[in-house]
Amino acid sequence: MPATVVVGTQWGDEGKGKLTDLLAREMDLVVRYQGGHNAGHTIVVGEESFALQLVPSGVLYPHITPVIGNGVVVDPAVLLEEVDVLSAKGIDTSRLVVSGNAHLIMPYHQELDRVSERYLGKNALGTTKRGIGPAYADKATRVGLRVQDLLDPKIFKEKLEMAIREKNATLAKVYNRLPLSADEIAERYLGEYAPRVAPMVGDTVSLVHEALEDGRELLMEGAQATFLDLDHGTYPFVTSSNPVAGGACTGTGIGPRDVGRVIGIAKAYITRVGAGPFPTEVDGDTSEMLVERGHEFGTNTGRRRRCGWFDAVMARQAVRLNSLTEVALTKLDVLDTFESVKVCVAYEAGGERYTYPPYHQSVLHQVTPVYEELPGWRTDLTGVTESSGMPPAARRYIDFLAEQIGVPVQLVGVGPGREQFVSLATR
Ligand code: GDP
Ligand code: IMO
Ligand code: MG
Repeated sequence: MPATVVVGTQWGDEGKGKLTDLLAREMDLVVRYQGGHNAGHTIVVGEESFALQLVPSGVLYPHITPVIGNGVVVDPAVLLEEVDVLSAKGIDTSRLVVSGNAHLIMPYHQELDRVSERYLGKNALGTTKRGIGPAYADKATRVGLRVQDLLDPKIFKEKLEMAIREKNATLAKVYNRLPLSADEIAERYLGEYAPRVAPMVGDTVSLVHEALEDGRELLMEGAQATFLDLDHGTYPFVTSSNPVAGGACTGTGIGPRDVGRVIGIAKAYITRVGAGPFPTEVDGDTSEMLVERGHEFGTNTGRRRRCGWFDAVMARQAVRLNSLTEVALTKLDVLDTFESVKVCVAYEAGGERYTYPPYHQSVLHQVTPVYEELPGWRTDLTGVTESSGMPPAARRYIDFLAEQIGVPVQLVGVGPGREQFVSLATR
């Protein structure tokens, strides 16, 4: 069976955790392919809420093998804490497999993320300060430490000694910070973390290929989103990995022909945390209503999310960048009380009309969204379970979005709960 990819189509927090959990019912493996604990994926089961950062969102099911692929950056302290929290809630995490090729987030990565953000002042990116950028930078400059290094203390110490010399020089000379102790880090990583992480480490490339050969169902769970992608997002206001569907190949070790479905997750409106361009951003009452009704505060950092109307220009681009086969539209219920809802169908700038984002970001910063306004449905959707129960105006909104972006909407979220979705499946 070819793999299915779940990918965020906006700036994150579209509901990837909820959808992954939902799809995992029919899957055998759920694999994270990029990012790290900058992600916060929420799953609500009855009264219980799980906010997962590193552990794949399929973990709640006993039949799922959760896998952390080579493309992820792993802070072992966070991984172990997450495993402990899940275990305390009665979730069995013993099947978790972590790629030996995944890179480690080290204490100096977090420190550098914090101080460089401060140094940037008003130009700060608004990162999650989890050390994600510095860890991927070390991977690219080939001075990173990998999960497999935890299994070989001699190599670990050698690589650490090499890396920390330059990190400490930077911390002291550029940022006026105290140096970090290699001995203290080695003691913590090798003494505390390695014995607990070692049993989780495995050959995840063979694992996913054997699963594909055996006809098992694989779900690749993206973190962050298309417009936070290092190559295709609103650079430099992006994360340092490739959340787009292509990242599912490089981040797990499968080829493009091993991917079948690519499901794009989109909120029925749009949000963004951190700095960067946002053409359909709203303020005032509309923003207050979206934040309040959608509980738009970061799962991970608690920051208030910026809100805006659905942007079909970006969604169309997300279809192309990810080869989306379908879309899952989440949080439609958040719009329940609006008299009317707006959809951005194009941008205008300098007398030109754009139906895809202008390639030059200076233009993106200046665009004016062209809106279509549709009537609201003013009906509580949170109890709707069948497509026949959708009010006509809500159905019209969904159909309008599907028409605008050119792929079918297969699922609609009508509340945070595991059961709060409506299937419109045509496949
Ligand atoms: P992720 O990072 O893409 O997994 O998304 P987050 O978990 O960070 O943020 C999505 C938030 O919306 C979470 O609080 C979810 O519980 C919630 N959520 C997901 N789907 C729906 C939905 O259809 N309706 C409502 N009201 N909330 C939803
Ligand atoms: P999930 O998987 C929303 C944002 C940060 C910042 C930028 C770079 O829950 O959708 P980083 O720490 O990655 O270097 O920060 O990316 N960002 C997210 N925004 N959801 C996320 O993850 C995010 N992960 C990173 O706010 O603007
Ligand atoms: Mg999130």
